[in-house]
Amino acid sequence: MYRFGKKVAFTLFGRSHGPCVGGVLSGIPAGFRIDMDAVEAEMALRKPTGKIGTPRREADSPCFVQGVRDGVTNGNPILIKIDNGDTDGSKYMKFYDTPRPGHADLPALMKFPDHDIRGSGQFSGRLTAAVVAAGAVAKQFISGYGVGVNAFSRSIGSVEDASARGSDDAAASRGFPTRACTADLDESMRLEIERAGAEGDSVGGVVECIITGLPIGFGGIWFEALDAELSLAMFGIPACKGVEFGDGFALAGMKGSESNDAYRFDGNRIVTSTNHMGGIVGGMCDGAPVVFRTAFKPTPSIGKVQHTVNLRTSEDDTVQVTGRHDPCIVPRAVAVVEAMAALTVADQIARGYRWSSAR
Ligand SMILES: Cc1cc2nc3c(=O)[nH]c(=O)nc-3n(C[C@H](O)[C@H](O)[C@H](O)COP(=O)(O)O)c2cc1C
Repeated sequence: MYRFGKKVAFTLFGRSHGPCVGGVLSGIPAGFRIDMDAVEAEMALRKPTGKIGTPRREADSPCFVQGVRDGVTNGNPILIKIDNGDTDGSKYMKFYDTPRPGHADLPALMKFPDHDIRGSGQFSGRLTAAVVAAGAVAKQFISGYGVGVNAFSRSIGSVEDASARGSDDAAASRGFPTRACTADLDESMRLEIERAGAEGDSVGGVVECIITGLPIGFGGIWFEALDAELSLAMFGIPACKGVEFGDGFALAGMKGSESNDAYRFDGNRIVTSTNHMGGIVGGMCDGAPVVFRTAFKPTPSIGKVQHTVNLRTSEDDTVQVTGRHDPCIVPRAVAVVEAMAALTVADQIARGYRWSSAR
């Protein structure tokens, strides 16, 4: 069981080829009506499609086992269960001897002698189904405070969306399988993924997430800073290898006169003229939308022959992956990024960090 959050807390469990994956979401108050159609819509966005996702097909219909009655929360922890159906562990057995480079096999086998490697066990992206289900509830909870979370594919492989994007663009990406913002980019990103897949290879990319509606002062400080907790949330997603806020690493090469976001009044509201900081200073919101990017590595399981070690013979060896895998994680990870961001914000709202009167 893997726990995230303090007051709105989420505990994740399951394995790729066990009977189910699921989670326990606590801290959502009693009397909150969950829109189950909206939950299903979020689940659909994580499902693989066409040749840009794994051929594994799952119903992914979450069952709210307890904590919800007739669609309304009763204040108890919400237990969410999602059955695993379409499992085939046969292609994974050789990884006991020859662990896949880039995946968790080697450290997992050293750490857990009885590790169930089928489907990559508890290290599988499969568990993100439960994350998205819980995140869908969190999204509804925070929308009651006027907060929206929308993400999209900023880049996939060598295809980059170079345009400035807002939350409406990001929301429009829900209509495209790659989660690009436009039909043209969707086509280019799809071809990039299909080309890599046809070569037995994989590509990575960047998910950009935009959070709107947070008041100035929302967030924590030091280790409870909003950017610190969002980063923890993102790095908890398998295959995440980088997180940056606003101009991120590019800020390191700027002058202060270029990077500072000037304040001004817009009527009686304080706004920033630019958003180099990604909407967060001192761990708290400065009134601009929170904008951050999460980098996902290329899917580690690839069809090309790779060098590895043989743990049975204690010799160098090779391994070639032949199972069912996503040639790119990014299109499916967009829903997961949104879910983890919504859980983070829900938790900080529940902790009172803070719903300021200055909103
Ligand atoms: C939605 C999603 C789907 C994934 N699908 C695959 C996959 O099909 N094959 C694979 O090898 N890794 C896949 N991964 C990535 C692995 O789970 C991940 O690389 C592995 O657990 C090692 O963890 P690390 O990359 O964070 O170090 C997926 C991740 C996510 C978030």
